[in-house]
Amino acid sequence: MLIVLNNKCNFNKDEFLDYKKSLETLEDKNNTIILCPSTIHLPTFDLNNIILGAQNVSATEYGAYTGEVSASQLKSYNVNYCLVGHSERRSYQKETNAEINCKIKQLLKNNIIPILCVGENQSQRQENKVKPIIEAELFEAIKDLTEAEQAKIVIAYEPIWSIGTGLIPTPSEVEEVLKIIKNILPKSLLLYGGSVTDQNITTLKKCSSIDGYLLGGLSLKVPFLTNFLEKLTY
Ligand code: PGA
Repeated sequence: MLIVLNNKCNFNKDEFLDYKKSLETLEDKNNTIILCPSTIHLPTFDLNNIILGAQNVSATEYGAYTGEVSASQLKSYNVNYCLVGHSERRSYQKETNAEINCKIKQLLKNNIIPILCVGENQSQRQENKVKPIIEAELFEAIKDLTEAEQAKIVIAYEPIWSIGTGLIPTPSEVEEVLKIIKNILPKSLLLYGGSVTDQNITTLKKCSSIDGYLLGGLSLKVPFLTNFLEKLTY
């Protein structure tokens, strides 16, 4: 399985170095672990047991774009995966599906695998709009990409109402959405994200279509993460 650790905007320098040290001992032959730290910590990453990912990328090329970090710059620091379209960026940075499409193109051009986040909010779920929301997010994000390019994208289904709230969808609700995604992107790996813990993994494990997990809060606590990985495997 693909386990993606989204540290979000956490850890100052010394805290990150301590955290990184605690990850050194994380042995997991059954899963591929990808760490997405804050951009500022990317250059300090030097672990062999974990693959490096980023949390964001510029929609533009390398050049005169103050404050941006381009896909080619990320690649030069050995970044192999990058989150795109996380709901926090869609909401706080007003990121649009068109910008997300540009970011995906920049990443693919630089051989970085995009992890595209999609998901509905609470009212969209209550109003039975999950399918059109997920379809619009996907179709606009993959616009103009070839089938081979589309197949490289990893999709993370993250219901917005579940992120950081302690609430998770039922296994059948997850399966229903993953089916919608599979109809559009049959070859993509599918992740679930939103309040995943070392406790509720026993329930989520019942979803046979899940290829991995995107972990926010859990990524920050290595002992719980270790417990999660054990429960995932056994
Ligand atoms: P959470 O975050 O696990 O803390 O809910 C997941 C995410 O936002 O990717």
